[in-house]
Amino acid sequence: MREAYHFLPDATVGNAGNGCKSAPAFPVPERPDTSHIDMAVELAGVHLKNPVAVASGTFGFGREYGEFFDLSQLGAICCKGLTLHSREGNPPPRIAETPMGILNSVGLQNPGVDAFIAGELPFLRQYDVKVIANISGNTPEEYGIMCGKLSEAGVDMIEVNISCPNVKAGGLAYGTRPDLAAEVTREAKRHSSVPVMVKLSPNVTDITEIAKAVAGAGADALSLINTLRGMRIDVNTRRPILKMNTGGLSGPAVLPVAVRMVWEVSNAVDLPILGMGGVSTGEDAAQLMLAGASAVAVGTALFDDPYTPLKVRDGLAELAARQGLDRLRTLTGGVRPW
Ligand SMILES: Cc1cc2nc3c(=O)[nH]c(=O)nc-3n(C[C@H](O)[C@H](O)[C@H](O)COP(=O)(O)O)c2cc1C
Repeated sequence: MREAYHFLPDATVGNAGNGCKSAPAFPVPERPDTSHIDMAVELAGVHLKNPVAVASGTFGFGREYGEFFDLSQLGAICCKGLTLHSREGNPPPRIAETPMGILNSVGLQNPGVDAFIAGELPFLRQYDVKVIANISGNTPEEYGIMCGKLSEAGVDMIEVNISCPNVKAGGLAYGTRPDLAAEVTREAKRHSSVPVMVKLSPNVTDITEIAKAVAGAGADALSLINTLRGMRIDVNTRRPILKMNTGGLSGPAVLPVAVRMVWEVSNAVDLPILGMGGVSTGEDAAQLMLAGASAVAVGTALFDDPYTPLKVRDGLAELAARQGLDRLRTLTGGVRPW
């Protein structure tokens, strides 16, 4: 619907076939001039030419999407999650559709950090785009080793995924306990010479507790939200749709949760935020920025339309022009709560 509205060829087409001859034509919105809008933002001292990134695990290492558009048009690329050694991921089915989203249990399929540095980073370096490596470890030590390797290899930033199980703590996710989240952050910081952004899990009672612990341990930025745990069941076979039984929910359904959590976290800690969760339009992204995000990432929406990040960028520029803003970054934290 949204697309049809934007790209109506003339003002009368909107009523075609609705059987209501006297109804007024749909207005076709004018596209404002956005050439004067300064789209640049800073994320922990890293300069992004625009605030639109792509979310880890939804963009691979950029090769496939690079066939659709010039990757230099993005503000940043959060790469597929890396582990110290290669992983095949979980058995299929590992993606299931849901109303307004998907459930996934991909399970960090990736070639391992060394193969990324040797084979994928040189490809990404052909583009004028910030490269953010995303890492998951079984132990704090593994996080440290990966941070050392990736810093030396020259990524622009490291995103530390703490939504994965801590082998030493019996499989409990790092991101669900402040002390474990802080331990991983300290280890990552100790071995990094580039900014460390910690990616928070929404599967907690109070996300600000984790945010404060991570900030206290030296994180340079935060990204949120990761996926929300969910489940779907086939009522005929009585089997869960996903082979792993449960998975992570993402897509438009999670946007209001993401906006709420970004708002809470931005009020609790003084760190820049990369906001994500259900973004598919410029207005979605603007909500996250108003809630406190300095930049935003597009994830699941890419599966529907690979050009979504560019449409989100243009939508943000148009929104800024309509609201008379010259610098997009002035949106950040601009919500006026009741
Ligand atoms: C298929 C899939 C794979 C993902 N893999 C990762 C990952 O490797 N590391 C990570 O930190 N987040 C991962 N995520 C979470 C996304 O980066 C993002 O935080 C989440 O999907 C919410 O954004 P969205 O609703 O725009 O997709 C993955 C999400 C999906 C859908």
